[in-house]
Amino acid sequence: MDINILNKIAVEMVADSKGILAIDESHGTCKKRFDALNIDVTEENRRSYRDMLISANSLSDYISGAILFDETIRQKTSEGSTFPDYLDKVGIIPGIKVDAGAKPFSSHPNEKITEGLDNLTERMKEYSSLGAKFAKWRAVITIGENIPSSACMLANSHALARYASICQEINIVPIVEPEVLMDGSHNINKCFEVTNTMQSILFETLDKLDINFSGIILKPNMITPGASCVEKSSPEEIAELTVKCLGNNVPKEVPGIAFLSGGQSDEDASNNLSNINKINNNPWKVTFSYGRALQLEAMKKWGGNNQNIIEAQKIISKRAYMNSLAASGKYDLSMESK
Ligand code: G3H
Repeated sequence: MDINILNKIAVEMVADSKGILAIDESHGTCKKRFDALNIDVTEENRRSYRDMLISANSLSDYISGAILFDETIRQKTSEGSTFPDYLDKVGIIPGIKVDAGAKPFSSHPNEKITEGLDNLTERMKEYSSLGAKFAKWRAVITIGENIPSSACMLANSHALARYASICQEINIVPIVEPEVLMDGSHNINKCFEVTNTMQSILFETLDKLDINFSGIILKPNMITPGASCVEKSSPEEIAELTVKCLGNNVPKEVPGIAFLSGGQSDEDASNNLSNINKINNNPWKVTFSYGRALQLEAMKKWGGNNQNIIEAQKIISKRAYMNSLAASGKYDLSMESK
């Protein structure tokens, strides 16, 4: 492990006004999104869709890194480069999702444990040889009746720490993602309580497994009410509780925090991030690592038809720009219509 290499990559991943594009959907998730829009689920469509996204005009002005999927890191863009080579050429750092998905957690109904540690060292070495400079592993925590259990939070934290240790050993920056899902009718205080506990267990476990905090990026959820909660919360309240939770748990050595969007609307994801960045005494860089909130409108416009590429690229470029403003606290909802 060379902490100078790890820290340099991590700092570049959260460079000023830049964030990360997540295009690492598994085949299952990609099929769900394509099916909803009647797009044929083929390897070529997955390639051509992701090629369209990463070759959008000026993307690297707003995007520091892109998280690829196992299939994509081996594919070529239309101009004939591998995805990692193309990304490198345009100044976007290539990364790779390495977990094998969230599976039912033994003896704990309705809870998930993320798998994928078997042979991870060998897989990581291959991804490194294919050009990956960072990786991602997502743990899923569900809020419901009597869940999450301490066991679920501990087991997932342990897997995240083992993954992070394997990454750091070969100088790949781990994105550590403990996602507390928005699903449910819980209020914002419940989200705070669960996220705060999860982050506390996570950082304690990372520390116990000797993870170097200056060579990781945290990818958390924001503190929001559940998607079906009737009590709405203002962006200011979301920002205040999110920063409070991070302040309670995230060591100042961590170079950056890059939020997931988790099912928030495009505007909410930008507005909430901007409000978080208006609280300006954060010790870490705070930015985005969005999947849906960057891509979904562009996917609808593309619709599986390459004649729509230019129009779809305008949409992804606009969302990347809006979130880049939000990463500096300069986004305003009124900018959407301009
Ligand atoms: O792991 C989750 C993805 O990388 C981010 O997806 O922004 O749609 O929640 P999302």
